[in-house]
Amino acid sequence: MFEQLESVRQKCAACQKCGLCQTRTKSVFSGGVPNNKLMLIGEAPGFFEDQQGEPFVGKAGQLLDKIFESVGLSRQKDIYICNTIKCRPPNNRDPLPEEKNACREYLDAQLDILRPKIILLCGKVALKSFIDTDLGITKVRGQWFDGPNGAKMMPIFHPSYLLRNAQKTVGSPKWLMWQDIQEIKRVYDTLSDN
Ligand code: URA
Repeated sequence: MFEQLESVRQKCAACQKCGLCQTRTKSVFSGGVPNNKLMLIGEAPGFFEDQQGEPFVGKAGQLLDKIFESVGLSRQKDIYICNTIKCRPPNNRDPLPEEKNACREYLDAQLDILRPKIILLCGKVALKSFIDTDLGITKVRGQWFDGPNGAKMMPIFHPSYLLRNAQKTVGSPKWLMWQDIQEIKRVYDTLSDN
């Protein structure tokens, strides 16, 4: 598994399939630990991720770590983290359809190699890449969908959105995220170790 991922990572690091290769500093393949239980799929690298070659290392990433830590999960032990597209779009604009198409082989390879039992679709770009819906993240977050290889797949708010909506009152995005992470942990705890 590690060798297979490493070979895809190297291919991704040298990728020139779309124009983002001209503006990237580093492609950002994955973070956390390879495992078959829990994978989070975000949107695309931002400024710090592009510099460091690691996903979710900026403010949004720090909040994501806190959310997982609140239920005893951590990127050092439990979660494999990747993005829908592996290179930073200039000025953090939304990825273009041709960029998403060009990059899909890397995400599909990550899913095929790891076969995670739980997949978290973090934000609208990840959501739309797996679920054909006109509904926004607010409408579908917290629900389980059928994912690849029998996975259970849940859309969740992107931490950048939570940073922009700081209130924690009942029904607020942060409060909803708290419900979702508890449901995710409940299902995670039912998974066996193989
Ligand atoms: N936002 C994302 O969706 N992914 C990252 O890696 C960083 C910020």
